Amino acid sequence: MHPVFLETFGCQMNELDSELVRGQLSTLGYRFVNDPAEARVVLFNTCSVREQAEQKAYSRIGIVGKRKAAGETIVLGVIGCMAERDGVDLLRRHPQVDLMCGPAELDRLPQLIDNALRTQSAEDAMVLSREERTALAGNRSRRSSTLAAAEDNLETLDLSRAFDDQSIGGARRSAQVRITRGCNKFCTYCVVPATRGAEIHRPPDHIVEECRRLAEAGALEVTLLGQTVNHYRYEHGLAVTVDGRQAAQVGPGLTAFRSAPPASSRVTTFAQLLRRIHDEVPQILRLRFVTSYPRDFGDDVLAVMRDCPRVCKYLHIPAQSGSDRILKLMNRGYSRGEYVDFVQRALALVPDVCIAGDIIVGFPTETDDDFEQTCSLVRELPFKNNFIFKYSPRPGTVAIDRFADDVPDAVKRLRNNTLLAIQSETSRRVHAAWIGRTVDVFFSDVRAPRVSRERSEDESAHENAGTHASVMELPQLSAAGSVGVKALHASRAHTVDSGSTCWQAVGRTSGDLICSAFAATESTAQKMVGRIAQMRILASEPLLLRLNAIPPDF
Ligand code: 5AD
Ligand code: SF4
Repeated sequence: MHPVFLETFGCQMNELDSELVRGQLSTLGYRFVNDPAEARVVLFNTCSVREQAEQKAYSRIGIVGKRKAAGETIVLGVIGCMAERDGVDLLRRHPQVDLMCGPAELDRLPQLIDNALRTQSAEDAMVLSREERTALAGNRSRRSSTLAAAEDNLETLDLSRAFDDQSIGGARRSAQVRITRGCNKFCTYCVVPATRGAEIHRPPDHIVEECRRLAEAGALEVTLLGQTVNHYRYEHGLAVTVDGRQAAQVGPGLTAFRSAPPASSRVTTFAQLLRRIHDEVPQILRLRFVTSYPRDFGDDVLAVMRDCPRVCKYLHIPAQSGSDRILKLMNRGYSRGEYVDFVQRALALVPDVCIAGDIIVGFPTETDDDFEQTCSLVRELPFKNNFIFKYSPRPGTVAIDRFADDVPDAVKRLRNNTLLAIQSETSRRVHAAWIGRTVDVFFSDVRAPRVSRERSEDESAHENAGTHASVMELPQLSAAGSVGVKALHASRAHTVDSGSTCWQAVGRTSGDLICSAFAATESTAQKMVGRIAQMRILASEPLLLRLNAIPPDF
């Protein structure tokens, strides 16, 4: 069967979509290859959130175009957010593209590929109609809540997920499960409501079942995905039932969080969903969720985070700005004060919770004073990290129509760098506070040593900086399979960074702090991948905790 190359750009939601596409096409007999040169079908799963992400995809489309012009027979498909945002315009401007499929229509992808393959192999090249080449939602997904729910074929795609090594990240034993799709928040800068459509909530039974099957396939960590996960809310008995199954349901909107549900209805809230998965699938040792919305984040969710040991103490909850004026222009629906109150409530209720977020600099009309408000927010709150983005005007958003992109790029760049430096100092403080503690680390990757030419420079730099520790502790395997810490003497420990001269096993704490442990050999480091071990934190850097080394006999 035809070899397929699939490249993914953008967020975790896109990664999950790609996994589902891979499963769906593999079931139909397609074979996936790692080299685009070997592929008969090339698919790009694209991202539209910032212009830069789109540019990357366009350059890939250009490369395939050249190959096709040189006579190669390739089916080129653009799937994901760019397909939805650009619509048929993309087909007109890039004739080398054979098919397009938006993120809300991925169940129709096999048909589109089949159409394109059959056309290319026909003796007389047939011309496909636009409908035979594209599957885009347009505005359909916002037309009516019940209609959209009944027509929701994507639920079938989520349900038909293959539970193999691929879906649990191979040795990494980490998987993702969607709980909501789309978004109803309409932040003025954001293209997601236009590309992914209305907020659709999956039935809790389907989500729990998916988690159970992933756990049975070997997943130790599950991340629940949604654009605004804490707004998950499923009203039972309301959605249309398709083939005797519960259907996914359009989100109720913000008013649902203002009052208690009517006594007659049975609702599953996000807090209840989280607790159900925690209690009913205890094989999942780490249960995460991203992304949270700073508005209407109830204490009920914080209580579940505090009380359920397998729910990770981590919140990715983007502030976007520290200025009330800019937050209003962004249509975020909360003030800086409300954001700070929430984070303080979380820190008070959930011991050791780690906070991360996203920030946009250079939003239209942002003044030095607005920017200073953002800087002070990043100094004031213990963010473990923030992803910082320069505002990028996106077609299809409210902001591009309403506001001129009036902050010069040089100013955006300067603000970006200034904020990165402030964040680095905040991160340094947050990470340093963990030194001396023993934590569970879920190892997911191995980092190779740097080549020998650089080694000497690297080592001397570290020695000069005086970062070597004099005591190193080695972990011990406990009966339960996790590792207990035993203090041992050791000659030396090393500074952890990407330029290290040793093999390193890299993992994360429950709060998503990145950790690294040295190993004498590659195989010792590899053995840690997919395992949760109790480790001692010896030192820290702004974005890294340095752990005790892994003993060779581990
Ligand atoms: N420009 C810059 N950053 C953006 N983001 C979303 N839209 C834009 C845009 N138009 C950022 C937000 C969001 C993250 C995923 O991407 O910070 O939280
Ligand atoms: Fe975009 Fe705002 Fe929805 Fe997040 S909450 S996906 S930023 S519209």
